[in-house]
Amino acid sequence: MEKNEIVQLLITSDRNITKSLASLADTVRHNLVGDDIHVRGLLNISNYCRKNCLYCGLGNHNRKLKRYRMKPEEILQTIEAAAITGYKTVLLQGGEDMQYTTEIITSLVEEIHRRFDLDIALSLGERPDDDYRRWFDAGAAKYLLKHETSDPELYRRLHPDSDFETRIHILRFLKQTGYETGSGIMIGLPGQTVESIADDILLFRELDIDMIGCGPYIYNPDTPIPEYAETSIPADAIEDMVIKVTALNRIITRDTMIPATTATETKFSARGKLNTLHSGANVIMLDITPPPWKEHYRIYPRNKFNDGIRNYQDIIKDISEKTGRPVSPQYGRRRENNR
Ligand code: 5AD
Ligand code: SF4
Repeated sequence: MEKNEIVQLLITSDRNITKSLASLADTVRHNLVGDDIHVRGLLNISNYCRKNCLYCGLGNHNRKLKRYRMKPEEILQTIEAAAITGYKTVLLQGGEDMQYTTEIITSLVEEIHRRFDLDIALSLGERPDDDYRRWFDAGAAKYLLKHETSDPELYRRLHPDSDFETRIHILRFLKQTGYETGSGIMIGLPGQTVESIADDILLFRELDIDMIGCGPYIYNPDTPIPEYAETSIPADAIEDMVIKVTALNRIITRDTMIPATTATETKFSARGKLNTLHSGANVIMLDITPPPWKEHYRIYPRNKFNDGIRNYQDIIKDISEKTGRPVSPQYGRRRENNR
């Protein structure tokens, strides 16, 4: 598909186009990667961050946020509980918290890899190349680092302390190192154009990204972006846009892992999340962050939180009742036998 065609599909407000794209993506998903839904346990290990991305509540600019950092022992206990009940992937996610040194993360990954039968995914932001290599050698299989927007000028405005070229370099490096590599964007960012979203989708394909998470931008009053910042995508078009981007990601990148994102669920409730699962998505992320910390991971305002780690059999039952699809018993890698 050419950029022009993608733009046309994205800009139309014809709901029938959304429906046909969703249904085509659902068929492509069924044919290429089957019906299995892959479940990831999401552990938010720290909400400290050295960066100041304008849209994000964890940015260093936010003095209102109560900061926390889980201790390695507590991380291991949580992961043990997740492994025992049946999780096959855990994602350790956090702000760019340099108090977790290269060594601390390396030994954490080594120990998880040695003790538990699950895939380790990391999402800890930008680090020197060598950190990524060491964590891979220690046993990490997946790394997520969203490029957020492929519009270099918008990227620069939103990220006072990063640049787009570095992001792309890191994504290429992660792929070379052997990681299943994840990226993604936010949809509806102030200043974002539909043309740039078409570029984002084509960039996922060009970089051969393995996991693609796209959700709506959610306004956060504790950030420098004003509530009614000018946008070129109308507010009432965002929900359909998320569905169309999910569907196009599936149709264009074929056999990738595509989550129904937390941001989609936060903004458009359980129904919105289910819609993306019927538009090409095949991954669900469940927050397993323990109670004292979970409500402080406020990238954007949230009021719904999990009750800690749920019994995996209940999760399987719940998912199959809601989607009519089975939960995969595997690690949920794009190319399952890579590692
Ligand atoms: N709305 C939606 N998603 C956000 N993220 C950060 N801030 C927001 C927001 N206001 C997402 C970004 C980033 C991850 C930490 O959370 O995509 O990669
Ligand atoms: Fe930090 Fe990531 Fe939020 Fe940027 S988006 S402020 S790097 S947590």
